Amino acid sequence: MQGIAIYPGSFDPPTNGHLDLIERGAKIFEELVVAILRNSEKSPMFSVSERLEMLRELTASLKNVRIDTFNGLTVEYAKSIDATCILRGIRAISDYEYELQMALMNRKLEPTLETVFMMPADKYSYVSSRLVREVAQAGGPVKGLVPEVVEQKLREKVDPAYRFHDEPREITREAPAEREIKKRKKRA
Ligand code: PNS
Repeated sequence: MQGIAIYPGSFDPPTNGHLDLIERGAKIFEELVVAILRNSEKSPMFSVSERLEMLRELTASLKNVRIDTFNGLTVEYAKSIDATCILRGIRAISDYEYELQMALMNRKLEPTLETVFMMPADKYSYVSSRLVREVAQAGGPVKGLVPEVVEQKLREKVDPAYRFHDEPREITREAPAEREIKKRKKRA
């Protein structure tokens, strides 16, 4: 077991790929701190507290995993909690260039911190938060790409009325906007 590591990211939303990496990291490090970036420039789908809550629920059974949030530089946050490693996932060659750039920049900023790359299971190699958001927002199915609790939250985000349904229902391929147009046409 290798000291404290941080797994920084946006996690908007957490996917099965993230969870797979967290489980792998938890086997290697004494403590793994999943760190959600708070001051991201992107306008997120889920608030930081929603992401924090989802990740806490998803990792509740992993005793050496902790979820936190941070502002500013990853290396500064890592140092503040005495982490010695930054964990990041690489799914495909396309990730490599960006990840290499980040790892080298982080090394320049703090030479004592190592970045460790791990590969998630190949069945998640195409899964990204961005694509999950895109599919869900267009009313497509995200089953198997994200944990069930995230699937549920995505449904509620895309269609707030879903929260009031007791029975799970299939996510419809019809985008909410199209549904609304049909409803209005019916009413007219
Ligand atoms: O999940 P993401 O969006 O790929 O995560 C990117 C993240 C949060 C790891 C990266 O943007 C980051 O470390 N941001 C903090 C600012 C920072 O330290 N920048 C310099 C390192 S390149």
